Amino acid sequence: MENLKYGWRSPSNIALIKYWGKTGVQIPANPSISFTLSESHTDTFLYLEEKSSKDEFSIEVLLDGRPEHAFVPKIKEFFGRIQNDLPFLKEYHFRIETHNSFPHSSGIASSASGMSALALCLAEHQLGDPDQDDFLRLASHLSRLGSGSACRSLYGGLVSWGRTPVIPSGSDDHGTPYSGKVHPLFWDFRDTVLLIDKGVKRVSSTAGHGLMHGHPFAENRFSFAHEHLEKLLKTLENGDLEGFGAIVEREALMLHALMMSSSPYFLLMRPETVAVIENIWSFRKDTGLPLYFTLDAGANVHLLYPEGVEQTVLDFVKTSLSTYCKEGAYICDRVGSGPINLK
Ligand code: PMV
Repeated sequence: MENLKYGWRSPSNIALIKYWGKTGVQIPANPSISFTLSESHTDTFLYLEEKSSKDEFSIEVLLDGRPEHAFVPKIKEFFGRIQNDLPFLKEYHFRIETHNSFPHSSGIASSASGMSALALCLAEHQLGDPDQDDFLRLASHLSRLGSGSACRSLYGGLVSWGRTPVIPSGSDDHGTPYSGKVHPLFWDFRDTVLLIDKGVKRVSSTAGHGLMHGHPFAENRFSFAHEHLEKLLKTLENGDLEGFGAIVEREALMLHALMMSSSPYFLLMRPETVAVIENIWSFRKDTGLPLYFTLDAGANVHLLYPEGVEQTVLDFVKTSLSTYCKEGAYICDRVGSGPINLK
């Protein structure tokens, strides 16, 4: 019996311009761009054992060393989508051993880091050599079919996804490392994640993307995403922190406004989310320091700021913002350099 093992650490990412709405099989309705994170990541080891019957997928998942049956259906669905790319999927029994660096119930989505870590293991088996040019592109393409935004986790720094005239190399099929000029202020940006709601998501992102079909503001939203992306790239080049913050905060609030105005509608902020946002705005007014926020499809707040103001911001988090967090919890993250081979 052949018993093969692959291991990858893959990071999460935080979108600055949000992907919200898709067509076909995970084709984004608008382009997005994110910072790859450093500390929030998933380690996945994949064991392949040849099996005699080649009729169906055979998958076993262990999370932190314990069987996690709830993950199997989602991974089977993922395998179904990628079997044209990876003809070997029915030939093996797959044991997936996975561990997240962030707590399971923290409200931090593990889909981007988890799907990309698994995709990297599968791409390595398919191509053999992870140093090949097209290795990360294949891993990103596979990740996209697992969970759209996961395709941006395959590279460090800023990564875009989706066709747009302002990033000619961009593609709907996979993420692309951003190669435009970026001011050094953004190379080492911080993301402190305030954990406000640790519960299960009220609306899955699949359901959320679905709500953009027939949404009364859909077309306007998609054109705003293009406009925001173009403006954001200029702020990244010029080191215009104020312009950057204005676009990123508007994107976050627009994402929530879309959910509040869909049918059915959802309110994913908690009172603490609103209190934190108001505190950030007062802090900025009082100190003049560049502290901004973004949100995912949930109640947690991501604080974005340059390295130079880290100590002042962390003092503010400790003395003030952490009182709005569940059990005072927050995660200190920063822009990271992409996946690592664990072999
Ligand atoms: O990749 P999904 O299907 O989990 O969607 C992610 C959507 C947002 O996190 C809200 C935005 C984004 O671009 O990451």
